[in-house]
Amino acid sequence: MYQAVRGTTDILPEEQACWRYVEQHAVAICNLYGYQRIDSPAFEETDLFTRSVGQGTDIVEKEMYTFTDKGSKQITLRPEGTASICRAYLQHGLNNLPQPVKLYYLTSIFRYERPQAGRLREHHQFGCEAIGDDDPALDAEVIDMAWRFFQSLNLRNLSLQLNSIGCRQCRPRYLIALKEYYAEYEQKICRDCRVRLNRNPLRLLDCKQPSCQSTADSAPQSVDHLCPACRTHFHRLKAYLELLKIPFTLNHRLVRGFDYYTRTVFEIQPAVGGSQSALLGGGRYDDLIEELGGKPTPGIGFAAGIERIILNLKKQKIPIPAPPGLQVLIAYTGNEARDASVKLAAGLRQAGISAAAATGGKSLKAQMRQANSLGVRYALIIGDEEVKAGTATVRNMADARQQIVPLGDLPGLLKRPA
Ligand code: HAM
Repeated sequence: MYQAVRGTTDILPEEQACWRYVEQHAVAICNLYGYQRIDSPAFEETDLFTRSVGQGTDIVEKEMYTFTDKGSKQITLRPEGTASICRAYLQHGLNNLPQPVKLYYLTSIFRYERPQAGRLREHHQFGCEAIGDDDPALDAEVIDMAWRFFQSLNLRNLSLQLNSIGCRQCRPRYLIALKEYYAEYEQKICRDCRVRLNRNPLRLLDCKQPSCQSTADSAPQSVDHLCPACRTHFHRLKAYLELLKIPFTLNHRLVRGFDYYTRTVFEIQPAVGGSQSALLGGGRYDDLIEELGGKPTPGIGFAAGIERIILNLKKQKIPIPAPPGLQVLIAYTGNEARDASVKLAAGLRQAGISAAAATGGKSLKAQMRQANSLGVRYALIIGDEEVKAGTATVRNMADARQQIVPLGDLPGLLKRPA
């Protein structure tokens, strides 16, 4: 028997209520903040991701699903959403619209990671991007939006982690300080960190190895090496967050796994699990559009992992509204009644009532069991006598009361609120 590929999952009907709950709140928050939906293709030219996410990152080095297509093009299934949105922004001249352009997406993401709870090879993100403005008030708005999104889902005990990693003016000086500091500990840190020290020193700070923790904790902090413009930007962002009463924790080890970030970076994490199980991550990417061939254009955004959100909704036992199911099942006995049930179901649906005729020639008892397990509000029972009389027996499944009703009166009765 075939199985879904490791790290991928089917979203069965019983899970769909949770997914709709999250998606509907995502759409509602985007409407509230004036973000418009954008959908981009599932795959892009590989080079788009290598350039934007960055050569030395885990995603580019180990996690991309890359293949050569039949036209010999290098193609990659999207390992994140931001690069595609920036490509679309440039390709479609969205820079000609009033700035910032505010966009959101709900999309699948592909990363060849080691699968475990909350870590999949195909996962789904709700993401937002605000492109074309570097005002720290926009950073605050984006973070506010992320925070209110989780509040609207009723998720509790989350923490907002915040850092500024500077810009291309001040970052190089910071990286020198970081490397100088780590050089002293080269023998103490893990093998991966020794590689990071030369290839991607910023990532030294988010190493998860126990042996590297104290070294990373005491490392020089990017916030102490910001240029005046970045310092002012970060200062104003923090002031806005205070104004908006959004609690945040400064985390000097928060650096995020993409090379495109500048200045603000943030994550929203559950009480346990830290960045390993972050529900949402984001930040500013003021050089990315230029890197992709456009004019210098700042941007900021975030993405939240829908599977992780659902895991936390379940953990916190948040009640999820059930979607409306089938309301009416029509059971029948006899051949004439079978034809009548098909016609009746069609007529009820045309009247806007969710209805189905029982199929498969089951006994009346089995049809009633089916009505029960489907959770319908009413079962209609028709036999040859009802067909002659132009009626149906209506059984209210909640209290098992039955009444005989002329077919013409059915829509009115069945539409009555419970
Ligand atoms: P990211 O932190 O890589 O950021 O992913 C965003 C969220 O997706 C994570 O916080 C997590 O909830 C979820 N996620 C990531 N990997 C997995 C996985 N393997 N399985 C399940 N869930 C996962 C980005 O992708 C950036 N593009 C965010 C961004 C948008 N920055 C600016 N704009």
